[in-house]
Amino acid sequence: MRSWGRRGARQPKQLAGGPRGMTVLLPAAMLILLICTISLFSRIWRSSPSIRVEDIDINKLWEPAPAAGWRPSSAPRSYWPSPPIESNGYLRVRCNGGLNQQRSAICNAVLAARIMNATLVLPELDTNSFWHDESGFPGVYDVKHFINTLRYDIHIVRTLPEITSHGKAKKLKAFQIRPPRDAPLSWYVTDALKRMKEYGAIYLTPFSHRMAEEIDDPELQRLRCRVNYHALRFKPHIMKLSRDIVNKLRSQGHFMSIHLRFEKDMLAFAGCLDIFTSEEQKILMKYRKENFAEKKLVYQERRIIGKCPLTPEEVGLILRSMRFDNSTRIYLAAGELFGGDRFMKPFRGLFPHLENHNTVMAQEKLDDSAQGLAGAAVDYMVCLLSDIFIPTYDGPSNFANNLLGHRLYYGFRTTIQPDRKALAPIFMARENGRVTDFEERVRQVMFNTKFGGPHRRVHPESFYTNSWPECFCLISARNPADRCPPENILEVLEERLQSGSSNVAETSNNTGLVE
Ligand SMILES: *[C@@H]1O[C@H](CO)[C@@H](O)[C@H](O)[C@H]1NC(C)=O
Ligand SMILES: *[C@@H]1O[C@H](CO)[C@@H](O)[C@H](O)[C@H]1NC(C)=O
Ligand SMILES: *[C@@H]1O[C@H](CO)[C@@H](O)[C@H](O)[C@H]1NC(C)=O
Repeated sequence: MRSWGRRGARQPKQLAGGPRGMTVLLPAAMLILLICTISLFSRIWRSSPSIRVEDIDINKLWEPAPAAGWRPSSAPRSYWPSPPIESNGYLRVRCNGGLNQQRSAICNAVLAARIMNATLVLPELDTNSFWHDESGFPGVYDVKHFINTLRYDIHIVRTLPEITSHGKAKKLKAFQIRPPRDAPLSWYVTDALKRMKEYGAIYLTPFSHRMAEEIDDPELQRLRCRVNYHALRFKPHIMKLSRDIVNKLRSQGHFMSIHLRFEKDMLAFAGCLDIFTSEEQKILMKYRKENFAEKKLVYQERRIIGKCPLTPEEVGLILRSMRFDNSTRIYLAAGELFGGDRFMKPFRGLFPHLENHNTVMAQEKLDDSAQGLAGAAVDYMVCLLSDIFIPTYDGPSNFANNLLGHRLYYGFRTTIQPDRKALAPIFMARENGRVTDFEERVRQVMFNTKFGGPHRRVHPESFYTNSWPECFCLISARNPADRCPPENILEVLEERLQSGSSNVAETSNNTGLVE
């Protein structure tokens, strides 16, 4: 993983300023054009899910879902002042968890800085807790692009500045606070802000899930989308490798990606142990004891309420029931699968064209990085760009959930979300020998699920999983709130920024905006 960090340490210079940096507020199509050449808006209307399942044309699933006139848009739609020159202080955060938990934490940090009129210090990524990766934010994300993209929203600096006291220069010390879980915005502009004004800088740690996801301000929600879908761009070497993988896969036609969450930590968390040998069960129970709260877990009970991750074989049976044939090409995004090849074999028997980033790019040695943030980032990009995406488990703010949101924003790209609770009794009946109508029953469940079009967010669905309608707009909307922002919104924001900063140029050294 080290070599990834080093290879990526060199950055092209042309990203600063200029029209390139403005992609943030253009339609997502710009972003897409950077990555690959798919048209965002061409899509075929798909038959509604209420029709008989026999009539469903599986080939339509390779196309994006119907958009009904909506397009992604996260530019401000109402008056959006430039960040004030006079900052209330510095905000440091430490984002814990894996790549995707950190991703939503970074969005929250930007929001916090905006409402506090604070200068954000480049977020710290907790790199040694789970992934054993030391590359941090600059090792995974394009820092210049991040700072530049958010220049109409907040000031960002790479590190805390030095201060001079008693004639000596030293680093400003940030006052450490542990924010309440899902803290409301009001906590930031009262408690946290008070400390910030007192000390000049605060350090919020840990910082995952420390800001409420549902907030009653669509402009602030759109800021989250600007961060998540525009400002957070992986480093060029990650983008290139992802694009190479996707181009290679796509050169033979469409492909689907599956996030096969059949890994030790997930299985230990879910507590669905009965399918494993007693040796394996011991390993999982030990892991569970060391990492999660104690809880009585009965396999059949867990399974029937949809809490057990799908096994690779179950995923294969679902796809076959849906009439995907054995020529279907599948990219597997996953860490190390637990239980060895015993579980993969039945799946491979049904779908032999299985790939992962090591098989597609055999000449590039990725084994070490596969566990690190960079490996997860490549998987993320390939899953984002694939024609169909299938998560096998979903939990708060993980890889699958973020991808569901990103694929929605990226043009309503098809996702297939198996309803594990509805499928469990069908699988259990099959295990008890009832095989005759198995495929038909699975089909009934599968074609009754959503495939990724615009849909209302229903609690506990997260904003990071579904940012409709805040981050989407209609060209001609009846409701003014849904109307797309004016075409020249970028010029307006740029003008506002210029006029605000021209008379105070001497203080701009601290803002990080001067490259
Ligand atoms: C932030 O600055 C704006 C002016 O740009 C001001 O209206 C707002 O009250 C300030 N908020 C805080 C928390 O300082
Ligand atoms: C795919 O399935 C067909 C039967 O439907 C079979 O003839 C063929 O050998 C299979 N191909 C592979 C690679 O398993
Ligand atoms: C800002 O930076 C420039 C060089 O980048 C330097 O010449 C100038 O003195 C700095 N101003 C302040 C106020 O630090």
